[in-house]
Amino acid sequence: MAVKDIVDALRDVTVNNMRLSELIKDIKLIGSNLEIVYRLPQKGLEEEIKQKTYQALENIPEVKTINIRFAEGVPEVPPAFTRRHVEGVKHLIAVGSGKGGVGKSTVSVNLAVALLKQGYRVGLLDADIYGPSIPTLLGVKGERVHVDEKNKLIPVEKYGLKVLSIGFLLPSEDTPVIWRGPMLMKALTQFLFDVNWGELDFLVLDLPPGTGDVQLTLAQNVHMTGAVIVTTPQDVALADVRKATSMFKEVNVPILGVVENMAYFICPDSGKKYYVFGKGRVLEFARAYELQILGSIPMDPEVAETSDKGVPVVIAHPESEVSKAFLGIAKLLSEKILRR
Ligand SMILES: Nc1ncnc2c1ncn2[C@@H]1O[C@H](COP(=O)(O)OP(=O)(O)OP(=O)(O)O)[C@@H](O)[C@H]1O
Ligand SMILES: [Mg+2]
Repeated sequence: MAVKDIVDALRDVTVNNMRLSELIKDIKLIGSNLEIVYRLPQKGLEEEIKQKTYQALENIPEVKTINIRFAEGVPEVPPAFTRRHVEGVKHLIAVGSGKGGVGKSTVSVNLAVALLKQGYRVGLLDADIYGPSIPTLLGVKGERVHVDEKNKLIPVEKYGLKVLSIGFLLPSEDTPVIWRGPMLMKALTQFLFDVNWGELDFLVLDLPPGTGDVQLTLAQNVHMTGAVIVTTPQDVALADVRKATSMFKEVNVPILGVVENMAYFICPDSGKKYYVFGKGRVLEFARAYELQILGSIPMDPEVAETSDKGVPVVIAHPESEVSKAFLGIAKLLSEKILRR
């Protein structure tokens, strides 16, 4: 029985759309006594968090008693000027969404490559410490990073992109990532600030799903140009995306626009568009929040296929509708940023 199994059991439990695993500030198993310190995202949630924790762990025989405490709430938002710039990086773009599996990583990778194709110098940072997928998407799994003479991490280069993922720092693919509060934040800040990125026009940051500690810590400590919100047209995705949008607004990170992923499916036989998840919902959301839609990406089996092979679709099938959509988004986004 490892702490990891306990964290795993808490990963599927949500309170106010936040995974309990993401709220853990500290966790200790001493004999059969489990101690958890949670970050309390909002007053009044204490009882719900406790009950859900008890329920989630009741079938773990090694845990006999559970002692739950709460740390202070959401840390204060520091003013924008105290946020640190990442050395050498002109514009940092975070790619986020409240919901998992909507295509953040796919968008991050293809957006990065599309920006590269426009002639910019681009880096990609995988900040998904729970499930780093960038190494797979770029076919650089198992790569190791080295440090330079100043002890800064040297990113891996692939397709002309400078890439860094926590996946590179794990000894093997199966290593459990049990980054507890402080350790996790240290790893993340190191990732950003102790890297020899060289000179970059854009650094794309692939965020983990949700609106937890990782997103908050980054938004509070790092100077970002802004965030790109990825969503699919489903109601379940949009509900979470509203939360993410509010979070970015609360911490004063400008939202650069919305990418609608899996917007429609083009029938290969007839060329007809099918709006599988419905049409117009993302537009409605964008209007309500006064956000720009940067582009709509169709659903295309080749996206998943090329991803598994480690070749972004923008490189594997540059003429496809999906790739054109990504190139359009990169163009709009870069122009918007450089105009500011
Ligand atoms: N436009 C698309 N057409 C077809 N498949 C897609 C499309 N976009 C993403 N996918 C597939 O959907 C799955 C989820 O995508 P991805 O991993 O990018 O999502 P994510 O939001 O980063 O997920 P997580 O929350 O786990 O980090 C992958 O299998 C990916 O290949
Ligand atoms: Mg992802």
